[in-house]
This record gives sequence, structure tokens and C-alpha cells, in this order.
Amino acid sequence: MTLSKETIKQLYHTHGISNDILLALLATDTWDEELFAYADRVRREIYGDAVYVRGLIEFSNYCKNDCYYCGIRAGNCKAVRYRLTKQEILDCCREGYRLGMRTFVLQSGEDAYFTDERICDIVSSIHSRYPDCAITLSVGEKSRESYLAYHQAGARRYLLRHEAASDALYAKLHPEQMQLARRKQCLQDLKEIGYQVGAGFMVGAPYQTLSDIVSDLRFLQTLDPDMIGIGPYITHNDTPFSGFESGSLSLTLRILAIVRLMFPHALLPATTALATISPDGRERGLKAGANVVMPNLSPLGVRQLYNLYENKNCTGAESAQCSDTLCMLIEKAGYHAVTDIGDVKRPL
Ligand code: 5AD
Repeated sequence: MTLSKETIKQLYHTHGISNDILLALLATDTWDEELFAYADRVRREIYGDAVYVRGLIEFSNYCKNDCYYCGIRAGNCKAVRYRLTKQEILDCCREGYRLGMRTFVLQSGEDAYFTDERICDIVSSIHSRYPDCAITLSVGEKSRESYLAYHQAGARRYLLRHEAASDALYAKLHPEQMQLARRKQCLQDLKEIGYQVGAGFMVGAPYQTLSDIVSDLRFLQTLDPDMIGIGPYITHNDTPFSGFESGSLSLTLRILAIVRLMFPHALLPATTALATISPDGRERGLKAGANVVMPNLSPLGVRQLYNLYENKNCTGAESAQCSDTLCMLIEKAGYHAVTDIGDVKRPL
């Protein structure tokens, strides 16, 4: 398999790529500059220089699941748990709205305290106070009826990373009770209900091979999500995976660029995990094709507690308190922070 500038140009024009070429591209940094340049070009053609800013509210770190990679897994008894009250969540939204944000992302572990009734109550309260804002939920695997109820309450977007599209890898990352088929069903239900859906995966997760990443990209092609969340795996000491290394910045950036070229219209966040593994990770993510940032709106005191991974970047440009810094970072990278609702642009 010989790669050349032509290979990347072709990917730019057709958005199609064979498994062999994908594998070869993933395995080398030789073509990164070309990849980033074409990814940036296609993103500018569709989204211009816009970087959408979403306010992230991490409202509970209780979780019933035991994903082996995650710091807030049920089995981590060292995790200090918290829940925000409805009023605290609404206060976060008020602050976000004041800062100009028009999308609120409500994320939590799978916390049984937040029943459907409570989630719907929170969603509809935000919806009635801020009818000009989009509400994104990221609260895990639920029944179709639950997803329907949240939608009726006013949620329009849902983030649920598929985590790993290959059964073998999924089984190595999760306990037996968690099933990839179930996860895929949830994503399907969400799409059918009419949500703008986000899926995604971690780069450099334990046991992940480049072929697994090809499977992830193929799965994303069949799902055709509106948002694709991709960040490096970062080791957490209080998990069964404490002995594994974190994923690399360079492979994550390369995958972001490939994803931008394969999914020109997708909303792609430069994730907090990317900003955590490298001081200039977020900027470099934007230059490799990412067009969304999600500054943290959670109260300062709990931000460090939502520690999916270690040394989470939750000061400075990450925090909404420093939204000027974040805007400057975006401008410096050559883009423009946009705080409007920022819906996905689908091809006509
Ligand atoms: N490193 C990086 N990302 C992680 N996530 C969970 N644990 C980690 C980790 N150790 C990601 C998962 C999840 C999202 C909310 O955070 O992909 O879907």
C-alpha cells in the first residue's frame, strides 16, 4: 500500500476510503500535514471559521456502571460523589446564557437518583426558561420510552459514545452486563425519535488496535451521526486499567482529521481529554478539523470530582469563568467562537 498526497486529495474529494488505505494512514505520521490541511479546508467550506461553544454541566458523578477505563465507575470507592440540585443546574444555565451560550450539555453517570421524571422536570424547566437554546443530554443507556419522554420535555440532542464497535474490544473494556448490541440499539432509538445524535470512541484505549479503529469508523458511517466525540484514552489510577498508558496526541489528531474528511458535515469537539494530554491539544484539535468546544459550566467545587480520567484540564481556558481566554485561544488558532445554537449542517 503506497500512500501519497493523491490519496488524501482523493479522500477530500470523495470522502471514501478503503480499509487498506485507512489502516496505512492510521499507521504513519508522514501525511499528517496534508491530512490536517485538507481537513481544515473541508471544514471551512462547510462551517467557515466557526467554532461552536457549548456549555457543559456535569450534574452527577454517581454511576451504576463499571466500565474498566472510567474513573467514576461504580467500583471506584475512592471517587468522591456529588449531585447537583435542580436549582444548581439552572444556575449553571443562567451563567452560560449570560456568557452567550445557546447550547447546554447535561452529562452525568448513570445515576438512578435522576429518574425519568426528574430528568424531564429539569429539561422542561431549562426549555421553558431558555426556549432559544438547545438542550443536549448525555446520561447513558435508557429505554426508548425514556428517550421519548426526554425528547418531549425539550431535549433535542443526545451524546452516547459507542466506545468500541468491535464486539471483542467492547468486551475487554466493559463488564459482561454491558453489551455492545444494547448500546447500538440505544443509538438507533435516539435517531429514530429524531434526536441529533453523537457517538464516538476513545483513542488508544487498552487493547485497541488500528483495525478496531477502522471498525469504529465503519460503524460511524452506518450510523451517520451528527456529532462525533473522539478523545484520547487517559489512564486513571483507581481503575483496573491503571497499568495501561494513555492514548497519544498524534494518533488522536490524525483520527480527527480523517473523521473530518470522511464526515465533512459532522460536529466534532476538540475534547477536554485532548486539552488534558497536551497544553496545546485543543488548538491542535481545531486545526485538525474539530469545530466544537465544550467549556465547563459546572460549579468550580465539583469540576475536579467529575474525573473520568486523571489530571482533567478544568481550570484556565476549560472553565467558563475564563471564556475570554477560550475565545482568544480559538481566534489564535485561526477560527471564530460562535455561541449561537449551532445545529449540524446536513448536505441538502
Ligand atoms: N479517558 C478518556 N476518556 C474517558 N471516558 C471515560 N473514561 C475515560 C478515560 N479514562 C470517556 C468515555 C465516555 C465519555 C463521557 O468519557 O468515552 O463516553
